[in-house]
Amino acid sequence: MRKVKVALGGKSYQVYIGSGLLAQTGRWLSEKGFSGKLVIITDPTVNKLYGDVLNQGLTKDGFSVNTLLVPEGEEQKSLETAGRLYHELTNCYAERTTPILALGGGVIGDLAGFVAATYLRGVPLVQIPTTLLAQVDSSVGGKVAVDHGQLKNMIGTFYQPGLIIADINTLKTLPAEELANGLAEVIKSAAIRGEKFFTFLEQNLDKIKSLDEGALEEIVFQSVKIKAEVVEKDEMDLGLRNILNYGHTIGHALESVSNFSIGHGNTVAIGMLAAARISHMMGILDGNEVVRLKKVIEQAGLPTEMPNLKSTEIIKAMKHDKKIRRDKVRFVLLKSIGNVFITDEVSPSLVEKVLVGDEKT
Ligand code: NAD
Ligand code: GLY
Repeated sequence: MRKVKVALGGKSYQVYIGSGLLAQTGRWLSEKGFSGKLVIITDPTVNKLYGDVLNQGLTKDGFSVNTLLVPEGEEQKSLETAGRLYHELTNCYAERTTPILALGGGVIGDLAGFVAATYLRGVPLVQIPTTLLAQVDSSVGGKVAVDHGQLKNMIGTFYQPGLIIADINTLKTLPAEELANGLAEVIKSAAIRGEKFFTFLEQNLDKIKSLDEGALEEIVFQSVKIKAEVVEKDEMDLGLRNILNYGHTIGHALESVSNFSIGHGNTVAIGMLAAARISHMMGILDGNEVVRLKKVIEQAGLPTEMPNLKSTEIIKAMKHDKKIRRDKVRFVLLKSIGNVFITDEVSPSLVEKVLVGDEKT
């Protein structure tokens, strides 16, 4: 097992990364001083796959387990579902010291995290991410939220977990599309802050896609290390943490203009390459680096071509992005692989050029 510490003073915590960790959860919770009752929040698919092994381990270590099920899907990240969960928590007499275990992907992590942050003004939270995206991104860093209508993550807070347990074995049952979603964020992490890690990806994507345990553990470990370093420097998302949105400025706009018919990982992949092309056209990023990025995205099975959507609509959607500052669209751009900067000064004509796809590197 490998460990990454997220160093946030009194709120510091560990991320455990390895295979077969679910069954050991009870021991680690006992070591942290917990005993008695706890609550697992999960969805039916994940519960069917991993509920028993987690439950058995916890019961063996003397815990009394209550499992609360939430149907799958982004629409469950709502105040309504949170309200139902508060009700169920009171029904099972959950107290201030009762830990909530968020077992699932980013939807469960964000929702259960939000509930843990607010129920009784905050109860202990353990993130047990089971998608690649949740292991490398959403479970780390304390952003918890629900959506407000069409507006994603509008109601939320920062609430750090006490422990994250990323069991690599769970990735073996992920549908290919969900693996690709996570891979987009893995490539993002390497592109913004991990030149060596990027080389590792160039050399190992086949192993990763064939779910080689060692390769999966390495990419989760490296990505979590990068995210932890960024979060430690800017927990409240006031500056540096913005770099984690590399590829997301155009990506989010594509997601919304396509009416969410293009998946998140796909739009981030296209967005990362578009941002690299902008940086190249500004004379900042070497053309070879754009080619390297494109190759890795393709090897991961992610798209690189702009979809056939109206560029005017994409630009309009970008202006609605909540990352916008004083009417200017904020971009995260590469100087080189592993080295990024944040700028509000990208000329609209360059953006238009990459959106219509007449700049092919
Ligand atoms: P998800 O949580 O919707 O999970 C995708 C699907 O995979 C679900 O149907 C789930 O049941 C299934 N699943 C989960 N683990 C599985 C496993 N091991 N085997 C088989 N199936 C499994 O999707 P996601 O991509 O994990 O998360 C997306 C969410 O994460 C979005 O709501 C997004 O806003 C949020 N997010 C949050 C942050 C943050 O910092 N908090 C960062 C990025 C994304
Ligand atoms: N996913 C972006 C962040 O955690 O800040």
